[in-house]
Amino acid sequence: MATSLIVKPLSPAIGAEVGGVDLAKPPDEATFSAIHAAWMRHLVLLFRDQKLDDPGLERFSARFGALDRKPLYTDEVVDTTTSDYVCVISNVKIDDKPIGDLGDGESVWHTDMSYNEFPPLGAALHALEVPPGGGETGFTNMYLAYETLPPVLKRQVETLQCKHDATRNSAGGIRRGMSATSDPRTSPGAVHPMVRTHPVTGRNALYLGRRHNAYIVGLSLEESEALLNEIWAHATQPQFSWHHSWRVGDVLMWDNSCVMHRRNAFDPAARRVMHRTQIKGDKPVFQPLTAANLTVRA
Ligand code: OGA
Ligand code: MN
Repeated sequence: MATSLIVKPLSPAIGAEVGGVDLAKPPDEATFSAIHAAWMRHLVLLFRDQKLDDPGLERFSARFGALDRKPLYTDEVVDTTTSDYVCVISNVKIDDKPIGDLGDGESVWHTDMSYNEFPPLGAALHALEVPPGGGETGFTNMYLAYETLPPVLKRQVETLQCKHDATRNSAGGIRRGMSATSDPRTSPGAVHPMVRTHPVTGRNALYLGRRHNAYIVGLSLEESEALLNEIWAHATQPQFSWHHSWRVGDVLMWDNSCVMHRRNAFDPAARRVMHRTQIKGDKPVFQPLTAANLTVRA
């Protein structure tokens, strides 16, 4: 019932907890609309105490759009799930082989799978096992990062495109079939505008992907590195972000077009098992605000 949905912001910048909903039961239209509206407003939603098996996680996330296939794991992962759409994030090993990706170290700020031409619009991550401490996941509001750029820098990034490296994941592991490269100009990956207009809200956000091997098309490598460093230093300021301490049963959904995320390291002796689905998204575009489209967005 939409009327019983409780939405409580979790930080000044980003994130809200949604109470009063059991994700294992298909939400009715009114509930779904209320969840979707909260997602667009708060960018990251937390649902506590959920009990979802993989088909349940797929069913819930597929309400937001067709699911995207999981990303390429690093070579050593032995995935024991049967679904092409459920990605395992875990440090747990069976016979010395990890059952999922990202290990137990830090995962750096990133947005998921932006090395693809059509990056996923969002993801849902369900905590099945969590360590007693550490492993917190941080989220940062890229609308805010864009809106607070110094005006000259803002105008500049609006004209630029960035290459999003496909070789490494956010924990530094090399993806299956990729080889290490050190020249961002030639490494494989999609090129996207650095400012992205959100397909639903029409708001603009900085769209950065990840720092490693990023390259601003058309600049010299030195210019690209210097400008990326400046933009990343701005975008990753703590006032735009919030970190979540996980409990078993948490489901977190984030919007990949206007949010970056990262993860803290945790004790390698502890177990952390998370299952993730991702929803197909559009090709990132930037639509400058003009008199012609102002009324559409109002
Ligand atoms: C992800 C991811 C971080 C985490 O699932 O895309 O980056 O906290 N996860 O597990
Ligand atoms: Mn991620």
